[in-house]
Amino acid sequence: MRAYLTLALGASCALAQSTVQLFNFSSYVDIENSALRPNGNLLLTTFDQGRLYTLDPSGRNPQAQLVAALPGATALCGITAIDHDKFAVVGGVRGSYSYTNETLYSVDFTGNSAKPIIRTIARIPNAVMLNGMASLPTQPHIVLVADSRLGYLFRVDTRTSVSKIAFKDDALAAPSNASIPIGINGIKIGQGYVYFTNTARGTFSRISVSEDGLEFGSVETIATLDAGDTGDDWDDFALDADGVAYVAQPDNSIARIQPDGGQTIVAGGGETEDIIGPTSVQIGQNGELYVTTRGGTIDGFTYSGQVVEVQLAS
Ligand SMILES: *[C@@H]1O[C@H](CO)[C@@H](O)[C@H](O)[C@H]1NC(C)=O
Ligand SMILES: *[C@@H]1O[C@H](CO)[C@@H](O)[C@H](O)[C@H]1NC(C)=O
Ligand SMILES: *[C@@H]1O[C@H](CO)[C@@H](O)[C@H](O)[C@H]1NC(C)=O
Repeated sequence: MRAYLTLALGASCALAQSTVQLFNFSSYVDIENSALRPNGNLLLTTFDQGRLYTLDPSGRNPQAQLVAALPGATALCGITAIDHDKFAVVGGVRGSYSYTNETLYSVDFTGNSAKPIIRTIARIPNAVMLNGMASLPTQPHIVLVADSRLGYLFRVDTRTSVSKIAFKDDALAAPSNASIPIGINGIKIGQGYVYFTNTARGTFSRISVSEDGLEFGSVETIATLDAGDTGDDWDDFALDADGVAYVAQPDNSIARIQPDGGQTIVAGGGETEDIIGPTSVQIGQNGELYVTTRGGTIDGFTYSGQVVEVQLAS
């Protein structure tokens, strides 16, 4: 385990008080997304042969353990709770910015906390690149899944396996001339809105949504990434109860976006190498952030995916 201490410089804004790597894979594994179980353990989706891992961040020297390889998938993306200790996971056969056999699985820990029951819930045959996923707050068995290529939100009822296109808009797609054709990426639902990042457009936006996930308003852009000459982009994020987002901002930082659009780098950034290719963020029970990464190559060495804990100074 390596630890870095970064002193909080600004009194008025939360900056990282500490950024500590809890775990990294020893061979190359790209961690794509994450969820927290009620017991505080993290679930990690990866591009490693459809494998889902778990990590107890409270342990000393925590190690990721394999939960299962989801059948038929080579890569896993979005994950969200659909009931108490039961999760939906998106997986498929990964190609170049497109997938075949995009599938929703359920991973149910309610009967056995160590050995979940895994089921295939639904195939989404018309999907191209499913990415972030979030459940409806009042009907968590219904999920919205973002398609980064099509610029769609699919709505899937995990009890009936019925899926349909619920919303589409150019603001969810990448522009046609984008160098990386990934539009909508992370999504979260709260306070009557679907919040989302669009990687190619560098936007963080929201759309009002009805409780049943069937009626949508128009897209409002909250913040636009000032990538400057860093070439950064926005991946998945966590949303707190006040509507403040903590966004994975590759190459190496976490941005905080206030509801009024104000944005600050709260961890990593600059020349730091604490966070290498962040992909998703979870907010722990005491306000700490758990960041997953895909790793990356620095000075010729390829770092593997990490789980990093960020404590914010208040
Ligand atoms: C997709 O699923 C079908 C049915 O299970 C299978 O026959 C096919 O080989 C799969 N495609 C890929 C690319 O794995
Ligand atoms: C794409 O086109 C827009 C509008 O013409 C332009 O502003 C932008 O710089 C272009 N982006 C790329 C990556 O070429
Ligand atoms: C894992 O992290 C350790 C500690 O920072 C680092 O020395 C090592 O190079 C990393 N390994 C990989 C494969 O990323």
